[in-house]
Amino acid sequence: MDLLRRQEALARERLDPAVHDYFAGGAGDEQTLADNERAWRRWWIRPRGLVDVGAVDTAVEVLGARLRTPILVAPVAAHALLHHDGERAGARAAGAAGSLFTLSTRATTDLADVAAAADGPLWLQVYVDRDRERTLRVLAGAREHGVGAVVLTVDLPVAGRRERELRNGELPLPDGVRLADHLGGAGGEGTKPLAGWDPTLTWADLAWIREACGLPVAVKGVLTAQDARAAVEHGAAAVVVSNHGGRQLDGCVPTAVALEEVAGAVGGAVPVLVDGGIRDGGDVLRALALGARAVLVGRPYAWGLAAGGQDGAREALEALTGDLELAMALAGCPSLAAITRDHVRAALW
Ligand code: FNR
Ligand code: LAC
Repeated sequence: MDLLRRQEALARERLDPAVHDYFAGGAGDEQTLADNERAWRRWWIRPRGLVDVGAVDTAVEVLGARLRTPILVAPVAAHALLHHDGERAGARAAGAAGSLFTLSTRATTDLADVAAAADGPLWLQVYVDRDRERTLRVLAGAREHGVGAVVLTVDLPVAGRRERELRNGELPLPDGVRLADHLGGAGGEGTKPLAGWDPTLTWADLAWIREACGLPVAVKGVLTAQDARAAVEHGAAAVVVSNHGGRQLDGCVPTAVALEEVAGAVGGAVPVLVDGGIRDGGDVLRALALGARAVLVGRPYAWGLAAGGQDGAREALEALTGDLELAMALAGCPSLAAITRDHVRAALW
C-alpha cells in the first residue's frame, strides 16, 4: 500500500539508524520476520460475486470493546524513540481510528498519562518482573486507569538474539526519556528494552495474574494447538497468535500458518487474535477467514507514528481499514461475520 510505503520510507529517513534497526529488526537471520509477511500471501482469497456490498461494515467487539475496525494497535515498546509525543499520540490515534491501543510494559509514558490522553479503549501488555511485587502493583492499578484487558506476552522468557541491536549497542534515548519501570519493568535501568523478565513463569502463574488485575487476560505469543488449549484451560479470555513480529525465536512458524491450528484448538471458546506481517486489507481478510476475530499491527503503525505523529499513526490505521473495506467489497463480504474459511484456500505457488 502506497501510503504505508511512503510512511515507512519517511520513518527510515527521520530515525537514527540504530533506532530504525530496533523497530525494523528481527531475531537471528530474520527468517521469521520475512516469513510472516510472505505467509499471508500463500493464502489465496476466493471472492464471491453478486453479494450486496452496498454497505460494508468493519465493526467488531473484542473483550467488551466495541470498535469500528478489527485492526488493533499491538504493544510496541519505547514510542518516544519514534516521535516526541510518544504513547499519548499513539493512544489518541487509535481512538480516532475507531481502534484500540495496547500499552507496552516497556513504554516511555506512564500508564496514568496514557489513560488520561486516550479517548478510546486501552489494553495493557505485561511482562512479569523477577520481583513479582512490582508486577502485582501494576496489575492492581490497571483497572482504575480504565484498562479493559491485560495482554500477557508469553514468547519472551528471555530475549531473542537481535543481531542489529548487538551490533548497535545502547539505544539513543532522547534526554529525559526513560523506559518506564512504573509498569513493573526490570528496574527501569537505562536503554535495554529486554532486560530481566522472569524466565520461570509457567501456565500456573496465569491464575494469580488474573486475580491480581481482575480483568480479562489475553495470552499473546501462542503458535500451537497445545498452547492454545493450555491458555483456555488456565482461564485466558483471548489468545493472540504471535511470534513477536519475528523478534524472538527465528525459524518459528509464521503466524498465517499457525492461526488455523490455534483457532481449531480454541474452537470458539474465546476470541483468537493474530499479528505479524499484516500489511494490507487482504491480509486482514485472510486472517479473519482463518479464524481470527481481529488483528494487531506493529511496524506499520510505528512507521506512521514516526512519519507523522498522531495524524500519521491514525492515517496508517485508517488506510488499513479502508483497504479492508475494499477487499471485503471485492470478495463479497458486507460484514466481518460474512468472512468464512471458504473465502481462502492454500496457494499452489
Ligand atoms: C514489539 N512487540 C512487542 N510485544 C509485546 O508484547 N511487548 C512489547 O513491548 C513489544 N515491543 C515491540 C517493539 C517493537 C519495536 C516491535 C516491532 C514489536 C511485538 C508486537 O506486539 C507485535 O507482536 C509485532 O510487532 C507484530 O508484527 P508486525 O505487525 O510488526 O509485523
Ligand atoms: C521488543 C520487546 C520490548 O520486542 O518486546 O523489543
